[in-house]
Amino acid sequence: MRKKITVVGAGNVGANCAVNLAHKELGDVVLVDVVDGIPQGKGLDILESGPIEGYDVRITGANDYEPTTNSDIVVITAGFPRKPGMSRDDLLMANYEVVKTATEKADAASPNAILILVTNPLDAMCWTALQVSKFPKHRVFGMAGVLDSARFRTFIAQELQVSVENVTAVVLGGHGDTMVPVTRLSSVAGIPLSELLDQATLDRLVQRTRDGGAEIVKYLKTGSAYYAPSAAAVEMVESILKDKKKVLPCAAYLEGEYGIHGLYVGVPVKLGSKGIERIYELRLTAEEKAQLAKSAAAVEELIQVIQKKLTA
Ligand SMILES: NC(=O)c1ccc[n+]([C@@H]2O[C@H](COP(=O)([O-])OP(=O)(O)OC[C@H]3O[C@@H](n4cnc5c(N)ncnc54)[C@H](O)[C@@H]3O)[C@@H](O)[C@H]2O)c1
Repeated sequence: MRKKITVVGAGNVGANCAVNLAHKELGDVVLVDVVDGIPQGKGLDILESGPIEGYDVRITGANDYEPTTNSDIVVITAGFPRKPGMSRDDLLMANYEVVKTATEKADAASPNAILILVTNPLDAMCWTALQVSKFPKHRVFGMAGVLDSARFRTFIAQELQVSVENVTAVVLGGHGDTMVPVTRLSSVAGIPLSELLDQATLDRLVQRTRDGGAEIVKYLKTGSAYYAPSAAAVEMVESILKDKKKVLPCAAYLEGEYGIHGLYVGVPVKLGSKGIERIYELRLTAEEKAQLAKSAAAVEELIQVIQKKLTA
């Protein structure tokens, strides 16, 4: 049986997810969007690239969830992107409604699916999907760390003029201004970063990583990044569908790990056919722990805003 992947939201991130999924032939793809014609048109256009690019998967578009029935994975990218000057958190309630609806409908059609959230503010949207779906936590998680660490890796490789393939980087925490790039655990072919770069340079690269999303928004003026975000989501899909068991930083629901309870926060996890198969707990320094706690507090604030609005 071929695998089926639903991508909710046929905008910039969603459509590019579909393109990357097709190139990797990870399964048949269903694009779903509320705008009539957009998922159908983009789906057909991507399908028609197949004979040229040499891939052979079915790609369809729809405005309802019937064609998504029994998907193995649902990637939720539906929502509104950030505009210049707007923080991820400003998007909160607008995207809460979108993710709630998308989750309800997608889960009814595919009760055994794994849900990968992309919509911002990411950690709060993962929490929303977990509440709405009542799926087990290992089947509901979010993409942010793969993107954030890819950005950090890019900046390190540029700075040192080395192959990005040699650079590994650890980024923890919420997908926001408080994310925690851990320079101590990042390396170039096993050489600790601290032996290659001085503290001022490290601090600059960490800050650029934290501002990575905003840097792209500033250039684009309308809309936010989508090439690297879609590549990151597809890396997660691939690890699951091929049961590769890659260790990737993902937004995972923590129940005591890192001293954090009942929140989604970015941590390294093992991604295989069951979804999150293990959460890795790194031994952190006191300063790193404090930064992670600050990041988790920022995520908690958003959850409280949602809860207050819902009970108001
Ligand atoms: N987690 C990350 O690292 C990361 C990275 C990039 C973007 N994002 C987020 O991903 C989301 C999408 O970004 P984009 O650039 O693709 O935006 P976009 O505006 O290009 O696309 C969003 C799409 O969602 C659709 N949509 C809106 N409500 C819907 C609903 N209820 N059901 C189905 N579709 C619906 C819209 O019609 C639109 O086509 C944003 O929230 C953005 O902030 C997250």
